[in-house]
Amino acid sequence: MLTANGQRLTTDDSLSGSDRVARMNRAHLEYCAGAEWADVVRRHVVPGATNGIDLGDHLLEVGPGPGLTTDVLAALVPNITAVELDEDLAAALAERFAGSNLTVHQGDATSTPFADNTFSSAICLTMLHHLPTPADQDRLFAELNRVVRPGGTVMGSDSLDSPEFRSFHEDDICTPVDPATLADRLRAAGFANVRVEPNPFAVAFWATAT
Ligand SMILES: C[S@@+](CC[C@H](N)C(=O)[O-])C[C@H]1O[C@@H](n2cnc3c(N)ncnc32)[C@H](O)[C@@H]1O
Repeated sequence: MLTANGQRLTTDDSLSGSDRVARMNRAHLEYCAGAEWADVVRRHVVPGATNGIDLGDHLLEVGPGPGLTTDVLAALVPNITAVELDEDLAAALAERFAGSNLTVHQGDATSTPFADNTFSSAICLTMLHHLPTPADQDRLFAELNRVVRPGGTVMGSDSLDSPEFRSFHEDDICTPVDPATLADRLRAAGFANVRVEPNPFAVAFWATAT
């Protein structure tokens, strides 16, 4: 398993919190930084999640990776903070966005140092499947409900499980979200007004922080 700059990373699943490293194989990382994905993000992924949503004054982006999503999101809000687990990706994003409205925090989004009610909204795009277990995803949902102000929207989308999706994640973490249980899991994390919309390729969700 390699980082963006080709270094080999640990595969130790006993690690937790900030000791746990992100896992994207090279083909996956290259796709997530490429022109084809940039076009999909700009035309479908970001508008599909954010259209009609009041993002407020400070958006939290979870798992920006190379930041093609961040490029689009940063233009939509006065302030944006991104939490990225991978040290190399976080450093590259901070350098690329230096002097902008983006603050990059390197760390584990399931357990952040942010105070309660810091953000007006939060978004997780194509990253939930990179958490090692459904329990980690549930911890992330609860953390987002904590750090987003009551009434703010937490939204996201992720690819559906399929043999192709699994093979794309060879040697990666791959924990696809089951659309059938997602609404109940979001409610269990404390959210209200939960909306889950699957399509043939992905599932999108919106939920109000309480
Ligand atoms: C497939 S990439 C998605 C990048 C971007 N959101 C996009 O759609 O182009 C998933 C990202 O989530 C990050 N990630 C995984 N677990 C994380 C965690 N616990 N906290 C923060 N980021 C995490 C990975 O390091 C990776 O950069």
